Amino acid sequence: MDDSFAYAPIARRGTIGELYPWPHWMKEIFQFVWFSFLRYIRPRYYMHLAYSAQRAVEENINLPFIYFLDSGRSALVCALRALGVGAADEVILSSFNCPAVIDAICSVGATPVFVDVNNRGGINVDDLERRITFRTKALLVTHIYGIVEDLSVLQAIATKHHCAIINDLAQTFELLNSPKRLHENGDISIYSFGAEKHIHAWGGGSIGTHDAELSKKIQEVVLSISIETHLARYCLERFLYYIRFYLYRTLPRVLILNLHTHKSSTDIVVHEQITPRTIHPFQLFLLDQKLKTYPAEQKETIANAKLLEEKLGQHMFLADARHSNSHLLYATIIVDPEKRFMIARRLAKDGIQTTWNYVPLYYYEAYEKYQKGEYPSTERLWKQVLSVPFRYPLTRHRVQEIAERILAHIHED
Ligand SMILES: Cc1ncc(COP(=O)(O)O)c(C=O)c1O
Repeated sequence: MDDSFAYAPIARRGTIGELYPWPHWMKEIFQFVWFSFLRYIRPRYYMHLAYSAQRAVEENINLPFIYFLDSGRSALVCALRALGVGAADEVILSSFNCPAVIDAICSVGATPVFVDVNNRGGINVDDLERRITFRTKALLVTHIYGIVEDLSVLQAIATKHHCAIINDLAQTFELLNSPKRLHENGDISIYSFGAEKHIHAWGGGSIGTHDAELSKKIQEVVLSISIETHLARYCLERFLYYIRFYLYRTLPRVLILNLHTHKSSTDIVVHEQITPRTIHPFQLFLLDQKLKTYPAEQKETIANAKLLEEKLGQHMFLADARHSNSHLLYATIIVDPEKRFMIARRLAKDGIQTTWNYVPLYYYEAYEKYQKGEYPSTERLWKQVLSVPFRYPLTRHRVQEIAERILAHIHED
């Protein structure tokens, strides 16, 4: 694949933290050290903190049966196992998707089946009807960019063909005052609290259902997991990720020719075999803490998204998406594919880091064998999308500046 489609250029000024904010990282590291000491010094108090955090999070998410894991991808693997998905089965997912989703399907030995997208980046219903077979055991719905799919339509199709729906809410986060929760749809819902997501709890995840029978199966799967999360390693890896961007900005170009952060991810040669791990008590503690401050931060993010929409108008991908009951994870504009790399490079020079998600999954060596036929809408969409920073703690002033630079570069030749 041409490099100019493979990855967005890295901003030599500016920061990746604007795109994937981690505002209180220093405080969290101190809290982690304190939490780790407590485990040895006052184990009962440590357990009490973890237990009460878990209760508070459960209340907040408000799913009747919910279990916690180290990550969203582990939650997906557990969901597939609880549904009894195995080697003889097929699982349908959109081809315009995060690699972690297909990795989960491959990890249980099932066959992923790609479906084309619709004009909202979601599942194309006509194509879906064509691709369901008697082997289809589940439909994995991912609400890309936080744009919520029409789950009632997908549910009707799934029911007709006796397949389950896994409602992957990793990229959504509901407006907390929404009367109907997104997790009321589908058979099993999962959340991710990874670094790029709405709430970053050092990579946690959860799985839940409203169905008591299914919950027993999920419980069985989750209770069989005995491997603990390496939280210190998670934290270190995250730091290395940011440090690579920092070095790229700081060091002379000649020293960092091999440091291009995105390059390694543009060709996935083998799928990641996901081994689910238990959630770390500190992840629960963080999650509880972050859910408390989230409503205020969410307000800021929504106001920033609204400002971008006002400024960028028809360039925004689905400006109406904020009217659903989840707000966006990515603020994405649609640009001419021929100009995308140039616009991203000029924004990078202005110190504005951009990204593009996703390269269709069948472009990666590890997944190309699952390509069956054509995906015309995916082909049209993926080269046009360009996501820009907008989330809290960005100020309105900064978002305005970003919008102005985007407009200037879109209209430049
Ligand atoms: C739609 C979707 N589902 C699941 C995941 C996996 O979540 P995690 O990174 O917490 O494993 C991701 C992101 O990585 C995602 O974008």
